Amino acid sequence: MARVRQLVLALVVLACAASASAGGAHRHHRKSRPSARLRLLPAAPGASLPDRARADRFRHAYISTRLASSTSPHHAHGRRAAETSTSTSTSPESSAFAMPLTSGAYTGTGQYFVRLRVGTPAQPFVLVADTGSDLTWVKCRGASPLSSQAPSGPSPRVFRPADSRSWAPIPCSSDTCKSYVPFSLANCSTTPPAPCSYDYRYKDDSSARGVVGTDAATVALSGGNGADKKTKLQEVVLGCTTSYDGQSFQASDGVLSLGNSNISFASRAAARFGGRFSYCLVDHLAPRNATSYLTFGPADDDSNTHGGAAPSAAPAAAPSRTPLLLDARMAPFYAVTVDTVSVAGEALDIPSEVWDVKKNGGAILDSGTSLTILATPAYNAVVAALSKQLAGVPRVTMDPFEYCYNWTASSTPPAVPRLEVRFAGSARLAPPAKSYVIDAAPGVKCIGLQEGAWPGVSVIGNILQQEHLWEFDLANRWLMFKQSRCAH
Ligand SMILES: *[C@@H]1O[C@H](CO)[C@@H](O)[C@H](O)[C@H]1NC(C)=O
Ligand SMILES: *[C@@H]1O[C@H](CO)[C@@H](O)[C@H](O)[C@H]1NC(C)=O
Ligand SMILES: *[C@@H]1O[C@H](CO)[C@@H](O)[C@H](O)[C@H]1NC(C)=O
Ligand SMILES: *[C@@H]1O[C@H](CO)[C@@H](O)[C@H](O)[C@H]1NC(C)=O
Repeated sequence: MARVRQLVLALVVLACAASASAGGAHRHHRKSRPSARLRLLPAAPGASLPDRARADRFRHAYISTRLASSTSPHHAHGRRAAETSTSTSTSPESSAFAMPLTSGAYTGTGQYFVRLRVGTPAQPFVLVADTGSDLTWVKCRGASPLSSQAPSGPSPRVFRPADSRSWAPIPCSSDTCKSYVPFSLANCSTTPPAPCSYDYRYKDDSSARGVVGTDAATVALSGGNGADKKTKLQEVVLGCTTSYDGQSFQASDGVLSLGNSNISFASRAAARFGGRFSYCLVDHLAPRNATSYLTFGPADDDSNTHGGAAPSAAPAAAPSRTPLLLDARMAPFYAVTVDTVSVAGEALDIPSEVWDVKKNGGAILDSGTSLTILATPAYNAVVAALSKQLAGVPRVTMDPFEYCYNWTASSTPPAVPRLEVRFAGSARLAPPAKSYVIDAAPGVKCIGLQEGAWPGVSVIGNILQQEHLWEFDLANRWLMFKQSRCAH
């Protein structure tokens, strides 16, 4: 059970979940529990499905909180979304760069990890690829003045700003700090000038604290001419997390923000590389060595297999395309419009408000949520239709899922009804059966969807996104997707 709790805390805090700290009294005499040790975990099996379900419910609470605060016209920090309409590419020679992307199942989380090199000289880190985050941060040591609380213990992967020639702190008084940094501390002293600091909180008393600066990130260009060139992205906004509570930060070194925000890595990098980024998610239980890519610039076609010049086995299908709602009210999340959901070819009767962001519904695509969460009316309709089709399969109980099945009870495996989500613009997502009737235990599969409160947002999680290439065209406000194996 301790592991379950750690996972939950990890996902929640990595997601920057916290009630905004504005107005809250900051207890500086936090009980000095031994800080979590920074170390690498040995390979662990993938999180169990119930673990993922629990983590996703915390994640959904975080998303709902963020949305509630951004719809408020006088939000304490007045955070703004990225001005993406102006982000046309200005990269002259090379048009794309790519970062290796893997399932985090080997560490026991439901996240996907990317590798990024930060600082000068560059240090490598493993970060959660998170479309629901606006601040990129890494575990850190030695950024004054918070270093007194620095985590102890050896780690090959702790960022040391003092050792980076390109690190520059962002002052607390700056517009970037006040307007864009989530959970920034409102308090700014000017004598001496205070750094921009943050304190992510969660009600479970877990939190992450640090200072924000900018630094360079080193990336490998993947342009057409084949040479493995590297380039530096300058002035990437980077949080340096010097202390945290909760023992839950072992699985990765921090978070790579892919959200729709002025300061996110995604908006900065996309602004320089074609106004777009894409990722292909391998199966969520794939081993550590199954690698796909997070790419900025035009997506490498055919499976997103960076650098691979393998002849394609079958002609690639044209991608589906739906408008990306880069609405300030939904920031930093990426919203899309669902038109219909069908099961076994039959369109389900779901009230249209459920998919309407203006009516406190809507759907977002989130790489940091594992299982898809549907607002009650949609959840009920989809689960009823799927379970009706599976009525002949013996049931087994596995909390928190309503419908789990003994898949080996009969000699012929049951047929999973086809689930199809149709988005605005007739874009159709027809995920493989394993993405919604999910392996939960040996011989057991569950309808892997969770119910979210209505009114409330629905979240398309990373399992439903697996084995597809997703391209976020921020400049032109399109989401493109197509089926792909993602890995070699
Ligand atoms: C905030 O500012 C007040 C005075 O303006 C000071 O007493 C307090 O210690 C500051 N808090 C933090 C967290 O810096
Ligand atoms: C954020 O966007 C504004 C325009 O709205 C721009 O002036 C500013 O430089 C941006 N800040 C960052 C940190 O990118
Ligand atoms: C990953 O490693 C296993 C053995 O450790 C190997 O069988 C498999 O082919 C590898 N997969 C990839 C995608 O490299
Ligand atoms: C599934 O059914 C088979 C055959 O009836 C049985 O042996 C097995 O124990 C069942 N599995 C579960 C998880 O109930």
